[in-house]
Amino acid sequence: MNQTLRKQDPSAAGRIVPVAALDHASIVEAYRRWAGIYDTAFGGISSKARLRAVSLVNRLPGQDVLEVGVGTGLALPHYNPEKRITGIDLSKEMLRKARDRIRTDALTNVQALHEMDAEATSFADGSFDIAVGMFVASVVPNPRRLLAEMRRLVRPGGDILLVNHFAAAKGPRWWVERALAPASRALGWHPDFAMDAIFDAEDLARIDSEPVPRFGIFTLVHLRV
Ligand SMILES: C[S@@+](CC[C@H](N)C(=O)[O-])C[C@H]1O[C@@H](n2cnc3c(N)ncnc32)[C@H](O)[C@@H]1O
Repeated sequence: MNQTLRKQDPSAAGRIVPVAALDHASIVEAYRRWAGIYDTAFGGISSKARLRAVSLVNRLPGQDVLEVGVGTGLALPHYNPEKRITGIDLSKEMLRKARDRIRTDALTNVQALHEMDAEATSFADGSFDIAVGMFVASVVPNPRRLLAEMRRLVRPGGDILLVNHFAAAKGPRWWVERALAPASRALGWHPDFAMDAIFDAEDLARIDSEPVPRFGIFTLVHLRV
């Protein structure tokens, strides 16, 4: 699919949701380009939100944690040592950076990093206590499939955490995000990504969400399985 289109998604109960303009090939290509400068370009603005998500992971019970879209591994040094972390990502180049970080920081609690699609993993049902995705929900081709897969992988009683930019419902940010939307493929994420592109009405009623810094554009969402 070459451009951002908007159409009715039957799974969204009649709401208008963005149709994925990012297929696997464009994600891999975008993050091949981003990998070298990702930490410099995005590490700073996202660091507080990422730390809030990791700090919630650290406070939750359960040791087996899956980080989907682990990227360059910016979160990895911040997990408590007793958490056992598995990371997956589509991008070889981002994973290479994450592996360098594991070596440099001697992160012995990182069990494995896999090049794997977070929407269709090879893990067995209930393999993890916690699944966390930071700034990945607005990148994947099919966010609802991502959430379904995270739900499948988490044990009953476990937790799903997402931290992301979610599009504003109105105001100046609404205009900016819609203006940027056609650049999704070049950016490697959807600026106009809305909460109901990933959560159905039942989930929206159950989630806990809180704004996290910076600039009020990121939200931390917690869903108990
Ligand atoms: C914006 S980066 C976020 C990286 C990291 N979570 C962070 O906090 O900096 C998005 C990452 O998601 C990865 N990604 C996108 N779609 C994916 C998919 N379907 N499966 C696994 N990883 C994916 C990209 O390759 C990229 O590394």
